[in-house]
Parts: sequence; structure tokens; C-alpha cells
Amino acid sequence: MKFTVAIDGPAAAGKGTISKGVAAHFGFAHLDTGLLYRAVGARVLGGADPVGAAQNLTPDDLRGDNLRSADVAQAASQVAVIPDVRAALLMFQRRFAGRDGGAVLDGRDIGTVICPDADVKLFVTASDQVRAQRRFDELLAKGADITLTQVGADLTARDARDAGRENAPMKQASDAVLLDTSDMTIEAALAAAIAVVQRAVSLPENQG
Ligand code: CDP
Repeated sequence: MKFTVAIDGPAAAGKGTISKGVAAHFGFAHLDTGLLYRAVGARVLGGADPVGAAQNLTPDDLRGDNLRSADVAQAASQVAVIPDVRAALLMFQRRFAGRDGGAVLDGRDIGTVICPDADVKLFVTASDQVRAQRRFDELLAKGADITLTQVGADLTARDARDAGRENAPMKQASDAVLLDTSDMTIEAALAAAIAVVQRAVSLPENQG
């Protein structure tokens, strides 16, 4: 069975946790597409050419332990503006989306560019303040030396770059369900996402 769930939204809105939870609930595979851009960003910080890095990503590149840092996040959103970088990563994402057994992909352009025919599209968001606090808590728990103000500035800069770029900008697909998690616990947000996916899974055309 092929069944694709596209989950987009700005940084630290809860996409990652929701995507993993939806995938686990339905037994689907999960791809965090931000990790691809972060891996390219990390290689560029190490001196590599962005397009070359995107064309030659290896599974090892996705395992680097610094990929979640704020520096790598900024580098990721800078390389994500380059059309040839996005083109190099496109087919891998589409093949993943089309795999048998169902797939959840989370990112910025999944419902609009990578999988415009996805069976379910969610756009997960939260207020700037809530997102900054969540990401700050995450980074602090990993021992990062960073302030809430710096985290807020990082998110604002990335959101502006991600939404403002010409090629595959972050935006809610017209047929995506909006999930604002500002006032929700992560458990409630995940339950709401599962309910949306469950409705689509239960449609007659997706049975059997
Ligand atoms: O985890 P967080 O939401 O902070 O970011 P991420 O999903 O890991 O993505 C890092 C960066 O990669 C984003 O700021 C985007 O610039 C870029 N990205 C993208 O352009 N398209 C995607 N499908 C996923 C990420």
C-alpha cells in the first residue's frame, strides 16, 4: 500500500515529534527532510561545495552528532535557497514518499513541491514565542551554550529565508490541514494529527 503523509511548517513547531509519532502509530516509514539540508549545511561549514555535497550525500552524513546545532540550522537554510541543491535532493525524497507500506515526510515544501498528491497534508505551526522556548529547551538539554534571545533570532532569520525564497518556499498547501500547537501539549498535538490521518486512512479508496 502506498500512502503519503506530508507535514510542513516553520522551525520548532513540533513537526518532528508529530511526524515520528504518526509514523510509529500507523507503522509508516519516516523521513525528516530537514536532516538532508542540515547534512549539506554541515558539509559546507566544513568547506565543501553545496551542490557537490547535495549530490554526494551518504547515509553517514545523516548521522553527524552536530546536525541539530544552531550553526548547522542556519547553514542548512542558506544552502536550501540554492535551486541545484534542492534538485539534487528531490528524487530521493519522492522515492521515499512512494515506498510500499506508507511514508511520513516532514519539511517545508513536502505538500507543495515534493508530494503535491500526498494523501494527507498537515501544516504544523505555533507562535514565535512558543517555538523559540521549545527549541531553547531542546538545545539546553543537549548542553548547548545559547540564550533564548539567540534562539529566537535564529528562528526568525530562518523563517524569513525559508518563506521568502523563490524556489519551493515554505507555505501551507491549499489542501493542507492547519494545526496550531501553541496551546497544545505535544501529546494533544500528536493525537490531533493522528485523527486527521486516521480519517484519510479510513476512506473507502484507501481500504484493502
Ligand atoms: O528542525 P527545524 O524545524 O528547526 O529545521 P529542519 O526541519 O531540520 O530544517 C532545517 C532547514 O532546512 C530549514 O530552515 C530549511 O531552510 C531547510 N529545509 C528546506 O528548505 N526544505 C525542507 N523540506 C526541509 C528543510
